[in-house]
Formats: sequence, C-alpha cells, structure tokens
Amino acid sequence: MNVLLLGSGGREHALAWRLAQSPLLDTLYAAPGNPGIADHAEIVDLNPADHRGVIDFCLRHSVSFVVIGPEAPLVDGLADNIRTMGIGVFGPGKEAARLEGSKGFTKDLCARAKIPTARYARVTSRDGARAALGDFTLPVVIKDDGLAAGKGVTIATSREEAETAIDAIIGPGRQGGDAVIEEFLEGEEASLFVLTDGETIVPFGSAQDHKRVGDGDTGANTGGMGAYSPAPVLTPELERRAIDEIVRPTVAALAAAGTPFSGVLYAGLMLTADGPKLIEYNVRFGDPECQVLMMRFTGDLLALMLATEERRLGEAPAPAFSDDVALVVVMAADGYPGTPQTGGAITGLDKAEATGARVFQAGTIREGEALVASGGRVLGVAATGADVRAAQAAAYRGIDAIDFPTGFCRRDIGWRALARD
Ligand code: AMP
Ligand code: GLY
Repeated sequence: MNVLLLGSGGREHALAWRLAQSPLLDTLYAAPGNPGIADHAEIVDLNPADHRGVIDFCLRHSVSFVVIGPEAPLVDGLADNIRTMGIGVFGPGKEAARLEGSKGFTKDLCARAKIPTARYARVTSRDGARAALGDFTLPVVIKDDGLAAGKGVTIATSREEAETAIDAIIGPGRQGGDAVIEEFLEGEEASLFVLTDGETIVPFGSAQDHKRVGDGDTGANTGGMGAYSPAPVLTPELERRAIDEIVRPTVAALAAAGTPFSGVLYAGLMLTADGPKLIEYNVRFGDPECQVLMMRFTGDLLALMLATEERRLGEAPAPAFSDDVALVVVMAADGYPGTPQTGGAITGLDKAEATGARVFQAGTIREGEALVASGGRVLGVAATGADVRAAQAAAYRGIDAIDFPTGFCRRDIGWRALARD
C-alpha cells in the first residue's frame, strides 16, 4: 500500500525509517519531510494545514493510509477529514485530540473519572484567577489551556510571578484564552506510551526526556534535548498502575463519549510518593522519545498502525522491543531554544553512523551538496547498548564524529538512570 507520513522532525525520520521496512509498504510519501526522511520516502510539497490538498494528494496517488506525526494537524481535525474520504489514519480525531489541545478538557475528564492528577482550577478572567490563586500554595503551576509548543507552563515561586504568567495568557490585549492553575507535584517524571484503538490498550514503551537546555537540567525549557528508553524509574508495577488508574479510564471515558481515541497516547507522568499522577497527555509520539522507541522496536510498524486504525489491536501480536537500552542526544543550533542560528554546515554523518550510531535529522536542509541547519533542534544521534552507560557511550561516540561548529548538545543525557545504578 501507499502511505503518506506528515511531519518534518526527528520523530518523523525515525517513523519513516521503520515504516520503510514494512513488507506491506509500496511507496512511502512524506510531507514536508527533511533530507533524512528523503532517504526513506518520496518527499512531496504539501502543507498539513491544507486538508483539501492532503486529501487530493492521497486520492491522486492511491494513498490508503496517512501517518500524522505532530499534534497541530490532529488538534485541527485533519484525521477526521481524511477518514471521511475512506482513507485510514494513524492518529486521533479532533475531539479525542483535545486531550492535548486543551489542558482544561483533560483536567475536567480526570476529575470526572477520578484519575490521579494535580489539583487544579480553570480560569478565564484575571479576577477569577486572582481569587483562585488563594487556594494554592507556592510553588504553583500556571498553564496556557491550548497548544503552546512546550512554552505554555510556568512554575511560579511567588504570587507575583504567578499573576504575571496568568496575565500573559488571559490579561489585557490577549485573545481570550483560558488558563489552568495547578498544584505543584513532586517526584520524578517519566513518559509512558500506549497504542489504543479506542478499546484495546497495548503498552508501547517508556522513556525519559531532558527538557532543559543545559547540563544538570538547568536553563530554559526546550522541546527535548535527549531521551532514553526504557525509563527504569517506571517499574513494571508503576507502569501497571499508570495504565489501570490513568490510561484505561481515559480511553474508556472517550469511548463512552462517542469519540474513541485511536493512535498513540503519550502520558506524561509524575511518580509521586502517592503513586503515578498525570501531568499531561500528548496525542502523538514524543520527539525525541519516538527516536529511542523506534531504535528498540523490532516489529512491523505499519502493520501495528493499521491494526490500531482498524480496531484490531486485540488480535494483533504485541509490539516487540529489544531488551537493549536506547539513548538519543539532540544536537541543536546555537541560540536554541531562543532564535537558532541557521545555515551552519553539518558534516560527518557518515562517520557517526560508522560508529554504529544512527542519525535522525530534524532541522536540516540541503544547500547544493551541503547539509545545513535550518531549525532549532537539528539532529538526534541515537544508539543502543546493553545498559544506559553503554548506550550513552555509543551515542556520544556518534556525536563526537559529527562536525557542526554552530551547534551544541548536552553532555549528560541519561544522568538520572545512571544515578540510579
Ligand atoms: P507540559 O508542557 O505540560 O509538559 O509541562 C512542562 C513541564 O512542566 C513538565 O514536563 C513538568 O516538568 C512541569 N510541570 C507541569 N505540570 C506540573 C505540575 N503540576 N507539577 C510539577 N511540575 C509540572
Ligand atoms: N519531548 C516532548 C514532547 O514531544 O512533547
């Protein structure tokens, strides 16, 4: 069958690599893609925001399945519009995608289904917010209700900071958005991935991300500077609790509402003294987490995605993963997560892959023969090993083979797992 993959990051490069290995695949198309994805797919000039254009392309090229990588097109209802045309999709429809598109929607669902999560208040006015703040102790967490590309969360250590963060979301001159005020949760974070067809839930691995830009988890928040899988902190017992107490009631609530979730559900968890609590949901694979999941996944990705869409997950073979640990280090362009310096030359990818690492491209473009940086997160250098230490050493051997003078990376990816050993 012909498949169209939407997206252009390291996540989509990892998905393209695995999709291309499926015996079910005839032609893989990708849009907008990147030079790394082009090794596995035919790049096409399509904008995922142009639903009509995407559907027309599918009809003209006999595409019968579309894999949607990023959240924005899902929240925007692209999956529904494609399904209306009788074309299969990996990814939830607009209503179920509200799990990521509206933090208030998710918090209300958790409250109704008694899902463990931080205590919260939804606020829509400055006065309401100021009154609600009185019910929380410091630090307090302030969130933009909608998609904010990882920039919508403030952990305020003073009341003034909390009010400033709320004003930035709903204050004068802002487009009437909503904000959520939340209790601060203490513990270690872990990411749990499941595939669900709306009814059956199958675990699809765990990971730990590194959100801060600097070594030792310092500096500004980013989309993610590195990750490893599995996350040893999420023991089998904690994973079982997270699925039973958080994921299963969520999937059941959406099915009961007539808007079943189909695709990958990414639960951001805080492992607190009282057990796992939900921080947030994402309705797609994480990036860079997807890169380490794909390094460990050993099955037929397309077959599994089709089973998800066709509500056959209950009969499909369970996803198979290698016992190895996978670890990815992100190379970003100088300036990231602020304005990244673009145009910097990148060489040595072959040398990196000769060390046994795998390089996933994100913010790269070709200029003639040269590969240059075009965005914030530029490359993900991934490797596997028998344990975290071995995977980390292998990933940094790959990193050290790359010449990217206007880029940087963290040198400590994996430190939490190493500290546990
Ligand atoms: P999010 O954009 O929801 O992923 O939030 C970004 C980061 O803020 C999370 O990864 C957590 O580190 C932190 N965070 C969000 N909500 C809370 C909370 N209620 N308590 C503590 N930390 C939080
Ligand atoms: N790495 C975090 C995310 O994909 O949301």
